[in-house]
Amino acid sequence: MIKHLLSINQLSREDVNRILDTAESFREVGTRVIKKVPALRGRTVVNLFFENSTRTRISFELAAKRLSADVINFSTGGSSVAKGESLKDTALTLQAMGADAIVIRHASSGAPYTLSRWVPASVLNAGDGTHEHPTQALLDLFTIREHFEHFDGLRTAIVGDVRHSRVARSLSLAMTKMGGEVTLVGPPTLIPPEAPGWGVRVSHDLDALLPSLDVCYVLRVQRERQRQQFFPSVREYSRLYGLTRARVDRLPEPALIMHPGPMNRGVEIASDVADLPRAVITDQVTNGIAVRMSLLYLMLGGDGTRVAGAPEVRVASRAPSGPAVEVLEGAQAILPETEAVPAEVPGA
Ligand code: CP
Repeated sequence: MIKHLLSINQLSREDVNRILDTAESFREVGTRVIKKVPALRGRTVVNLFFENSTRTRISFELAAKRLSADVINFSTGGSSVAKGESLKDTALTLQAMGADAIVIRHASSGAPYTLSRWVPASVLNAGDGTHEHPTQALLDLFTIREHFEHFDGLRTAIVGDVRHSRVARSLSLAMTKMGGEVTLVGPPTLIPPEAPGWGVRVSHDLDALLPSLDVCYVLRVQRERQRQQFFPSVREYSRLYGLTRARVDRLPEPALIMHPGPMNRGVEIASDVADLPRAVITDQVTNGIAVRMSLLYLMLGGDGTRVAGAPEVRVASRAPSGPAVEVLEGAQAILPETEAVPAEVPGA
């Protein structure tokens, strides 16, 4: 397994399937009364957030705690960053305290790459500038697979402020890698010129696309990143690209509505649309914990280092599109007895 997760481009199709299959096992842990397994006992995960976050920071914290890792939450307010300490010195300080993994969100694209050159810890990109948000894309894939059981030929529209969206880039790379078709939809001013290089189509006409979609993925209008006027008014944007009830009625029956959050209700998505059963926005959040548990587990020892004294076992995959069985050393530490079966028994 990779040491750092900086971009979706680092992952093969097999890597993605492995991460999602392992997340299937961890999802079950989240349904237990005691939502904790000893898989990463004694390891230390640092959440290093230089930008605001609700979902990603809490999700990584819960994921690490459910694996029994020690967690340190770092934010700029109240830290020595407020006194002018550099990213490098902050990182080296955290490393000196024994961090095994550093989860970083930063306003500068590329900050996680730079960090990964300074520290021996694993670095996980939790969103860097307008570049990438790979764990968001993986939890989105997990949620899509839950409903469609595969990705081949699935038609996804990513709608809105693509220009400022790290989610759009990571999800485009991830969906096309797994065999899906992606169309980026928005006003020309909000589609970056390099977007066709991501292996996607571009459209400016949402209404024409709606009847052919399997997934309508709505992006937040990131007004805080917009340094100029990219559309005449919020009202005009909502009229052309907002996901209203009338537009939802033009989607095929099984099509999913997704949003990475946080939402601007009434701008890119109507409030009643966000609360529809086919809007799986809170499922995305729930699935994010299992996907991040999977990543921390695979990157910090579940991929070759036996953890918690567990024997080698063969774990049945519950993912219809995944391999029939997956061998994970230490998997006994994360699975109930009924799901951890001896290696000689074929996967069911
Ligand atoms: N989707 C996402 O990254 O949300 P947060 O900004 O709340 O982490």
